[in-house]
Amino acid sequence: MKHHPKGLYILFFTELLERFSYYGMRAILVLYVIANAQGANPGLGWAEGDALALYGWYTMLVYVMSIPGGILADKWLGQKKMVFIGGLLIIAGQFVLAVDSLIAFYCGLALIVLGVGGLKPNISTMVGGLYKKGDLLRDKGFTIFYIGINIGAATAPLLVGYIGETIGWHIGFSLAGFGMILGQGVYIWGQKHLKGIGEYVAPVKIAGSDKRSHAPLTKIEKDRVFVLLISFLVIIMFWGAYEQAGGLLNIYTKEKLNRFVMGWEIPASVFQSLPAIYVILLGTVVAGFWAKWQAKGKEASSIFKMAVGIMIMGCGFLFMVGASIDAAASADGKAALYWLFGAYFLHVVGELCASPVALSFITKLAPVKYASIMMGIYFAMTGLGNKLAGLIGEAAADAGEKTVFFGITFFTVGFGALLLVFLKRLKALTHGAEDVVLQ
Ligand code: PHE
Repeated sequence: MKHHPKGLYILFFTELLERFSYYGMRAILVLYVIANAQGANPGLGWAEGDALALYGWYTMLVYVMSIPGGILADKWLGQKKMVFIGGLLIIAGQFVLAVDSLIAFYCGLALIVLGVGGLKPNISTMVGGLYKKGDLLRDKGFTIFYIGINIGAATAPLLVGYIGETIGWHIGFSLAGFGMILGQGVYIWGQKHLKGIGEYVAPVKIAGSDKRSHAPLTKIEKDRVFVLLISFLVIIMFWGAYEQAGGLLNIYTKEKLNRFVMGWEIPASVFQSLPAIYVILLGTVVAGFWAKWQAKGKEASSIFKMAVGIMIMGCGFLFMVGASIDAAASADGKAALYWLFGAYFLHVVGELCASPVALSFITKLAPVKYASIMMGIYFAMTGLGNKLAGLIGEAAADAGEKTVFFGITFFTVGFGALLLVFLKRLKALTHGAEDVVLQ
């Protein structure tokens, strides 16, 4: 049996710890920002709407910065160095956040934005670089990598969230920083297993080679670009709904859910680990389902999976509609916890349908000359989704949570249904981009 290259495990642990740092900090971000500035564990005392606006900007920029992060790697430094620099910036950012001052808060966020922009897209490209073209292990490598991401995302809110909320926000932020220090350590130690991966390669100029790049897009390319734009919309809408988790749902959990279990009140941020735990538990189940489905010869195109995924995820918000009704009817104004478990469950089933196919699909649709920038664009689209998540969350202040939760279900399910209605047409416009399936 062929084994995965050792470098995969170096990148696995580096990214696991980077995500630990990212999701740990994110689990307490809005809670810190809205916490009373005079309380026992003082926060910034902002209004919820402002906190969610900041959440939207921050989580958007983190991923939009993937574009300059990717370009810097391609043009000058190579991915390997960019991951290193990104890691350093993240460490600096988390520790600046540990300082209790508003200026430090903004500087810390800016450093993390730059750091994640440098690290995240480039480490993902490096995973691809570990495998030769056509290697069947590559997809499995990415699945292992995705599990690493979610181990980091599952453990961080338990530790950083718990400590940040109950002991001190700034201790929580520094804990996130220690996570990244460990990740950076693994990365430096593991360099021997990453020889030749993510190194800067100077472009070779072939006579006449730049002629093609000036060529206009062909009819097939134009059709595919149209489907590409639709896929971008799916990605933006998907994350716009899903990433309510760290924003509105986080605040909702804090304020409107009864978090007492056997007499102990569980801090709200701890529940931020739930989606990642579901990903780890359900990852192979959902992948296995689609494999069987495809083996039976049923419709299993990427557009189909993305449509089904966004609809399932959107239905998760019906549980939150239930929570709102429950909260309104209860004496203390709080709803039961199981609604949140149900919501995150469907969010993750949807994610596992849509997300694994999205990147490879858009790569197949992109005109060849845009192939290398596609990773950056993909991350930037998830960034726009995160901004949308902040905007939708903000709307809850005026419209009320129940209306917002129901609205999300309505639009995501409606959009998914539209994709299904036009599925044949859209598939025709891809001109067989998906016909070559390697597995
Ligand atoms: N859980 C994923 C991660 O942290 C979410 C994500 C998907 C982020 C796609 C960016 C792009 O990696």
